[in-house]
This record gives sequence, structure tokens and C-alpha cells, in this order.
Amino acid sequence: MSAGELTPSPDVPLLQARELARHYSVRRGWFSPPATVRALDGVSFELRAGRTLAVVGESGCGKSTLARALTLIETPTSGELRIQGQDAADVRTHPALRRQVQMVFQNPYASLNPRKTIASTLAEPLVINTRLTRAERQERIEALAAKVGLRHEHLARYPHMFSGGQRQRIAIARAMVLQPGIVVADEPTSALDLSIQAQILNLFMDLQDEFGTGYVFISHNLAVVEHVADEVMVMYLGRVVEQGDKRRLFAQPLHPYTQALISATPALRAADRRERIRIHGELPSPLKPPSGCAFHQRCPLAVPRCAEVRPALREVAGRWVACDVI
Ligand SMILES: Nc1ncnc2c1ncn2[C@@H]1O[C@H](COP(=O)(O)OP(=O)(O)OP(=O)(O)O)[C@@H](O)[C@H]1O
Ligand SMILES: [Mg+2]
Repeated sequence: MSAGELTPSPDVPLLQARELARHYSVRRGWFSPPATVRALDGVSFELRAGRTLAVVGESGCGKSTLARALTLIETPTSGELRIQGQDAADVRTHPALRRQVQMVFQNPYASLNPRKTIASTLAEPLVINTRLTRAERQERIEALAAKVGLRHEHLARYPHMFSGGQRQRIAIARAMVLQPGIVVADEPTSALDLSIQAQILNLFMDLQDEFGTGYVFISHNLAVVEHVADEVMVMYLGRVVEQGDKRRLFAQPLHPYTQALISATPALRAADRRERIRIHGELPSPLKPPSGCAFHQRCPLAVPRCAEVRPALREVAGRWVACDVI
């Protein structure tokens, strides 16, 4: 093992985020002062080996911002991130941290280099980050390709020669080739046909069984989340509204926003004939978030106090909920 390499310990969570925040400064016009978008505004969680944390919420709630912070693509504005116990702020002195967290994107075509064969796409991270010989690299690539369902002859081909589902298999193989502890997948199946989605989800789960990888799985589709998650984090305008064990959260969602999301997913609603809860109005502008609880203007349970006091996350029925009314 080379200097700076990490020794994973089963006692230390793979990922620990504490009050992680990322704010952006945006210009609204030539003469107005820049405004701040609190894209991610204080998110905390722990992820352990072999487990999946799913992150759900409407477009613009900060899911991809969280993904970019976790994969060290962007530096958080505040808060703490630990990767296998090591402070991610030390990535300069511990470059090996970076390879512990890999990412799978929504659009596998845009994320693969069209001019590289699959073999060289998969070999590249190994050439840069390891001292494996050419033969050892070849062996690792072939074994992994077989695991993700690619055939030997596929390795000499280029990305445009594959279907969307196959391309996502290649992107998953590329994320896995350095045997990272953690994979962050940002809507990895949303661009795929329904029939292919289930195959890709099963592939993620088979690889997790085999390698013990921890997943942060971002999706706006709750039926997908139900399939893959151990724990669920529901976000609204950069903050967590409900977080906890998947089974509990799906069986008895407590936050009115979680209830609305679940009841808007026909596959889940049909199972227990849950009554449809509708939320009214549009997602507020992140440049001007509502006072108090950010959800109060759309909430069927809102009382006047909700417009004034922002509810803190508190423990209710074995999970965390940010609502003072329930
Ligand atoms: N680089 C940036 N500069 C300014 N604002 C940004 C930047 N990146 C994201 N935002 C804003 O931060 C908020 C969160 O964006 P983000 O992409 O994380 O949402 P998301 O949950 O991934 O949405 P989607 O489901 O559409 O992918 C949005 O209001 C977005 O406009
Ligand atoms: Mg996104």
C-alpha cells in the first residue's frame, strides 16, 4: 500500500456529512447586488458499507449539488465531510480520498468519451491511479466487464455502438474499476426505458452485494427508491424534511411533503390504497425561500406559526422529521 492510502475500518462509516452546505452567489442583473442560492443548506447523514442512502425531492431541491459535494467535485461552503473517517478537506494531502468516491451520471452518453474504446475508458483510471501491470489491468477490466454484463468483444468498441442501457453498464463499470468504497449515482436510470431501468437497478444491487459498496442514490422516482434504498432522505429547497429507515418512512410517512410525494407515485399508492394528497402551487424560488417552514405555502397542514418558525429536525417514531405540526 502506498503512502496516503486509506485502510477501511468496519467501525468507521464510509461517509459522514455534518451540516453540509453549498451556497451559490448569482447575479440577477447588472445593477442589482448578487443574491445567494442556498442550494444545499445543512445536510447530515452517515453511510456504511453495503448500504444505500436514497436522496429524493423535486427538481432544484439540491440533489445534484449534494452529489457534487460528496464526490469532491465542489467544495462545500460550510459543514464537514468525512470519507472513511478522513476529513475531505484534506484531499490535497490525501489524494487517495478522491478515488474512494466515484460517480455515475444520468446521461451515460455524455459521460463517456466518444473517441475512446470501452477498454481504454476502463483502463484509464487504473493507469492513472494504480501500479497494475498491463496484464493485471486487462484481467481486472475483463472480470468487471463480465460482471456488468458486457461481452469480451464489446471492449474494443466505441460508446456510440451501444444502447443507453449498455452505456450505463459501461459507466457503472468505470465507476467501479478502482474498487471505490462509495458510489454516488445521480438519477442513473431516469434516462433509460422502463424495461431497462429494472436491469440496471438489479446490477447496482448485485455489485453492492459483491463489493460491499456504499451507495448514495439520487432519484426523483419513489418507486425506484423503494426498490434500492436502506435509508431515505427527503429534501426540500436544500434542506432535509424527513430522513430515516426506508421501510418506516414508506409505511408511515410523517412529513406532509413526504406524504404528498409518496401519494403522487401510483405504484406505491395502489399498494395500500393510500388517499391521494395533493400539494398546491409551484416550488418557491430558491432565491427567495419562504419564511419559517419552506413548505408552508403548499402544505395542507400549515398553521400560522409555520410561516414564522423554521422547524428543526426532531426524532419522531424512529426517524427525523422537520415539522412542528405533526
Ligand atoms: N453553479 C450554480 N450556480 C448557481 N446556482 C446553482 C448552481 N448549481 C445549482 N444551482 C441552483 O441550486 C439549486 C439546486 O440545484 P440542483 O441541481 O442541486 O437540484 P437537483 O435537485 O439536482 O434538481 P434536478 O432534479 O432538476 O436535477 C437550484 O435552484 C439551482 O438553480
Ligand atoms: Mg440534479
